[in-house]
Amino acid sequence: MASVKLDHSLGSSITLVDFDNGSAKDMVVDSDSIVNNSNTKSYKLPYEPAHEFIFNSLKKRIESINEDTCAPGEENSFFVCDLGELEKLYKNWKLELPNVQPFYAVKCNPNEKILQTLDQLGINFDCASKSEIDKVLSMNVDPERIIYANPCKASSFIRYAQTKNVLKSTFDNVEELHKIKKFHPNSELFIRIATDDSTAQCRLSTKYGCELSDVENLLQAVKDLDLNLVGVAFHVGSGASDFTSLYQAVKDSRYVFDKCIEMGLPELKILDIGGGFQFESFHESSKVVRVALEEYFPGDKVKFMAEPGRYFVSTALTLASNVIAKRTISNNEAMLYINDGVYGNMNCILFDHQEPIPRILYHNNEFHYYDFESSTNMLKKNDVSKYPQKVSIWGPTCDGLDCITKEYYLKHDLEVGDWFYFPNLGAYTSTAATPFNGFQQHSDTLYINSLKDAL
Ligand SMILES: Cc1ncc(COP(=O)(O)O)c(C=O)c1O
Repeated sequence: MASVKLDHSLGSSITLVDFDNGSAKDMVVDSDSIVNNSNTKSYKLPYEPAHEFIFNSLKKRIESINEDTCAPGEENSFFVCDLGELEKLYKNWKLELPNVQPFYAVKCNPNEKILQTLDQLGINFDCASKSEIDKVLSMNVDPERIIYANPCKASSFIRYAQTKNVLKSTFDNVEELHKIKKFHPNSELFIRIATDDSTAQCRLSTKYGCELSDVENLLQAVKDLDLNLVGVAFHVGSGASDFTSLYQAVKDSRYVFDKCIEMGLPELKILDIGGGFQFESFHESSKVVRVALEEYFPGDKVKFMAEPGRYFVSTALTLASNVIAKRTISNNEAMLYINDGVYGNMNCILFDHQEPIPRILYHNNEFHYYDFESSTNMLKKNDVSKYPQKVSIWGPTCDGLDCITKEYYLKHDLEVGDWFYFPNLGAYTSTAATPFNGFQQHSDTLYINSLKDAL
């Protein structure tokens, strides 16, 4: 079995460790020279987002609210979305993976302005349901630019995709093939294979993807039913951190491509490398992709696509939330209640295993946005005087589960009416917010464009 280990000490190189025959032989590959022999350079986005613009937007909104007289809910939590960040991320994508066409996973954040911006940039779409398809088609997107990337679809949804001419879709079982034969026989099919996603933040292969041992049976069914198989798809799990599985999945995909030829099926044309990318590790993960594609799919016969979600939106949105209540426990300990929580935009704590970072935005009539160290969850010995206030932070519903953090340390003793902000909350947040307990489901979003506004 071959695998890839990232060796950070090697700078722009990664080490491929080949475990074939039980012996590890290390090959150092300068992956930057791999893509088209071009001198691909690491595109260094500012790791800090466009703070000036985000801060101005947060400040303006908060200054417009008078907590003593405002209408009910005027002080509700809200997002600031930087559409310029999407553009920067796409430029970064094109530098790192110029041969891979992204199909943005709508489920991650179906906000219309975000979808429109991605559409204008030339990004295609991964939809998982009828309403996601509708949303994308309503923007006049050509159905060719949609993949219905759900391997287990309702028959009525398959019929719907057929009427809308959405041809690309995935499958991982024979039963699905029979439904497709009956309702949408002209589909352009991708066989989804399972991956090792055991270290991912959110596992997907426990639910979807066929094992390599099932591939032959499935290909036989495709042949018997005379269906149109065009490619292979996989997903290494959302929030993936072990890129060995990316490399292995590309290798496994090669097996499927070869099996098709062996079984007399038409040659496959497309490899869909799924999602799982994160901005923080994108430089490393895309290197692994380039190495693997060059090794197993050299030349330009096969087209590559991907289904990134989190990568494109996580860093683009900041959430602001108001302290609506406080229970003082002692001089330096309190429970703070804010107007967003796990039933709202921070459902990502439960569903996506995220740990939102609460930073102090407004306290004592002053804004603290730029104090990026206004809070910590890891109190070191010498930090006690720096962070004198211990807090737990809770959402607004009556459920005890609605807890954002059981233990955080703050520089200031926050009061009712103060504000927190939470950076990087664009992925898997508003998309799954609920109206439980009668609290707001939809939060306002204020839009900025740090590229255009900066001109
Ligand atoms: C089929 C499929 N494609 C793409 C994605 C997006 O993944 P990510 O946000 O990790 O890039 C998901 C996430 O669940 C998915 O299920």
